[in-house]
Order: sequence, then C-alpha cells, then structure tokens
Amino acid sequence: MFITFEGIEGCGKSTQSRRLYNRLKEAGHEVVLSREPGGCELGQKVRAIVLNPSLQIGQHAELFLYLAARAQHVEELIEPSLERHRTVIVDRFNDSTLAYQGYGRGFPRELLFRLCHFASKGIWPDVTLLLDLPVEEALARARERNKREGIEDKEGRFEGESLSFHRQVRMGYLDIARRYPERVVVIDARGDVEEVGEIIWQEICKRLAHGCNG
Ligand code: TYD
Repeated sequence: MFITFEGIEGCGKSTQSRRLYNRLKEAGHEVVLSREPGGCELGQKVRAIVLNPSLQIGQHAELFLYLAARAQHVEELIEPSLERHRTVIVDRFNDSTLAYQGYGRGFPRELLFRLCHFASKGIWPDVTLLLDLPVEEALARARERNKREGIEDKEGRFEGESLSFHRQVRMGYLDIARRYPERVVVIDARGDVEEVGEIIWQEICKRLAHGCNG
C-alpha cells in the first residue's frame, strides 16, 4: 500500500507520518518512510537548493526541481519498495505540486497533473491523508518548529510567502480532496498529536481490512 501525507506547513505531517510508520512496524508490517523533496541522494540535493531562501529560483525552475526529485525518488525507492510489497509512507508527493505550484503559483492544473503523472511513472497513492488546519494556526506551528530546530535560514522559502498564498494552497488541497474522494481523506488536524494519530490509524486500519496489499 502506498500512503502519502499532505497539507500546508505546520500541519503536523512529519510527526504523524513517523507515528504511523512506528505503529505499522509494531503491528508487523514492512514499512518504508520517506519524504519529498528528499528521500534519495538527488532529492536531498534538490531540497537544499529549492528550500534555500537566499537562492534566486524562478517558478518554472522550481516546478522542474520538484519533479526531478520526484522522478528519481519513484525510480530509486518508491517503485522498488511497492514491488516488494512494502507499505510505503511518503511525506508530500504529487498533490504538493498540484497544491503549491497549481493553486498557489497559478500553473494550469491539467498540465501539472500530466507532468506529475509522467514524473511518478503513473504511480499514485492508494490513500492520501490530508491534514487540514487553519492557515494562521499552521504557520504559527511551523515558525515555532523552525526556530526550535534552527532551520529558519535553510528552509524558510515557503514560510516567507504571504498568508493569501498559504490560504490558496489550503483551498487547493481541499479542492483536490473533493475531486478524488476515494483516495484523499481530509483529517481535522486541530486536535493534539494523540487524537489526530488515532483518527489516522483508524483510517489506515479500515483500508488494510479492505484488502490493500499492505
Ligand atoms: P517540507 O519541510 O517538507 O514541508 P513542511 O514544512 O510541511 O514540513 O517543505 C517542503 C516545501 O516544499 C513545502 O513548503 C512545500 C514545497 N513543495 C512544493 O511546493 N511542491 C512540491 O512538489 C513539493 C514536494 C514540495
């Protein structure tokens, strides 16, 4: 089974993807946890480039950097892991491109869909957990985290965007969820870590019981 986590900055994806990974492992599943951009050597290099706020990167170049990282990630890690029947959890995937570059930056949705489909070799998640949170709350959490981890300079590109950019991205995600209701589950991320984790766990158990190959 291929599971992705999506949502705006500070929605709790990283925490929840790790929790789900640990819980599935404890339940005896063979699980792989990864993220984008990142997840392979090329992805790590792209991450350092694309999230560096002091580097000049146009919106077109930005799009293709994310897609390049994705293509390599799919080829090196995601596809082989799925072929070995691992449960694969990825923090951000194609929907991030649709939400940020599409609804956020304004690139045409249909074009982005086709580029994503091409970069990911037609591989889409079985289930996408969209952690939804009001923008103000999410950004306050993200700022707090960056300060705590001392990564404001290296990873501050999107945190520096306007509130309206993040609102568009959030609305974009909710629109994607409406378009793909079979795949995308909207999770109210306002609860505490335990509560949200439990909702996610129930969702995944439901899908495993329905015979997903996890
Ligand atoms: P990341 O640290 O993964 O997000 P978070 O702050 O939620 O933990 O940062 C990745 C950033 O890259 C995030 O702001 C969204 C952006 N992004 C895109 O714009 N397009 C994409 O295709 C991907 C994968 C990420």
